[in-house]
Amino acid sequence: MSHFHYRDGAYHAEGVGLAEIAAAIGTPFYCYSTGQLSENFGRFQDALGGLNARLYYSCKANSNQAVIKTLAQLGAGADVVSVGEMYRALAAGIAAHDIVFAGVGKTRDEMWAALEAGIYQFNVESVGELRALNEVALALGKRAPVALRINPDVDAKTHAKISTGKAENKFGIDIDHAPAIYAEAAALPGIAVKGLACHIGSQLIDIAPFRAAFQKMADLVKALRGKGLAVERVDLGGGVGITYRDEQTISFVDYTNAVAENFGNLGLKLEAEPGRAIVGNAGILVARVINVKEGVSRNFVIVDAAMNDLIRPTLYDAYHQIVPVIQPADDAAVAKVDVVGPICETGDLFAEQRALPPLAVGDLVVFREAGAYGAVMSSTYNTRPLVPEVLVKGDKFEVVRPRQTYDAIIGQDILPSWL
Ligand code: LLP
Repeated sequence: MSHFHYRDGAYHAEGVGLAEIAAAIGTPFYCYSTGQLSENFGRFQDALGGLNARLYYSCKANSNQAVIKTLAQLGAGADVVSVGEMYRALAAGIAAHDIVFAGVGKTRDEMWAALEAGIYQFNVESVGELRALNEVALALGKRAPVALRINPDVDAKTHAKISTGKAENKFGIDIDHAPAIYAEAAALPGIAVKGLACHIGSQLIDIAPFRAAFQKMADLVKALRGKGLAVERVDLGGGVGITYRDEQTISFVDYTNAVAENFGNLGLKLEAEPGRAIVGNAGILVARVINVKEGVSRNFVIVDAAMNDLIRPTLYDAYHQIVPVIQPADDAAVAKVDVVGPICETGDLFAEQRALPPLAVGDLVVFREAGAYGAVMSSTYNTRPLVPEVLVKGDKFEVVRPRQTYDAIIGQDILPSWL
């Protein structure tokens, strides 16, 4: 059951009415549900239970420390993609030995910091990165634990901007080059090569690409072992999609089977890096209608959130369900409107010709499934302050990031001496 729902005619996050939060902190704001986070994490963990797997929550999806800490307390490790994210994960209570560091362009400074911290694993994406990491590790007198990220050349059948596992994508080591590079890694004195990693894309709703990638990865494990190379870990990446509209996504049964069929008998330690599947439907964005504008050819509902707060519709043509906070009558008439933000760009468009019940100035609306890649991708474009984030637990809510002040934004600039 969703932890966001109508109760007594008004939309709630768990036991808290959204109008109550709006009255306390204004709009727009992000709101996360502890119950939904816990349920999603528990279901993912159960799905891989018995397969010697560990979940490394992909912090890039939502790196608020309140979210990370909620998951850490449930047993999550962290997948980070920058040293900044590593510091956040550490600050949120994730131990260094529970952190995996992924990313196609780690700098030597980042490698140094992560080695000093003592993280669990570097997912290395190229031979150049491998050699650089070896040098940095030797300079520090350490050995870097490494999984080689393989590009299995599989089409994830998702949006082109979030597809990562085709040969033409920038990610990972070509699967054909993997044996030679793995052998080189095994021989480097600053590297302790532990295994392989892959991640073919995000928002996958079909199991077939996972099956194809996992099979290639399992074949590679066997081939490497056949050459006498030790492979003890495989990182399965993230990518499990969620329902934004009405799409049927991957079932955990199918995911578990795809993992078990390919890796079940290989005596591996498995890792998974889910992001969206954990936080996507555990967060919403709440906005208020500023104006309703009747155009010549269409009507516009202008809300106080914009593309700088939630960029997914603009960037990926993503669909987010929009629901009014006051529950419409079952027989309420619906009309098609464009829901837009106040930013000076045509692309500042949340929904085009969306059938919605009548909305009036001052009404609150909810953008659903905004917990993943929402707040983390926001910016201050148009000098719009970053919006607050709230975490709900039962009938309590707390602000876990306050609204940015105008002074904080404007104070960031420094005038040069000649002005
Ligand atoms: N592991 C790696 C190496 C990744 O690159 C990603 C996501 C994940 C794990 C987590 O994937 P997830 O379970 O969340 O699908 N901003 C885009 C999504 C970008 C995904 C980037 N990589 C969006 O809003 O759809």
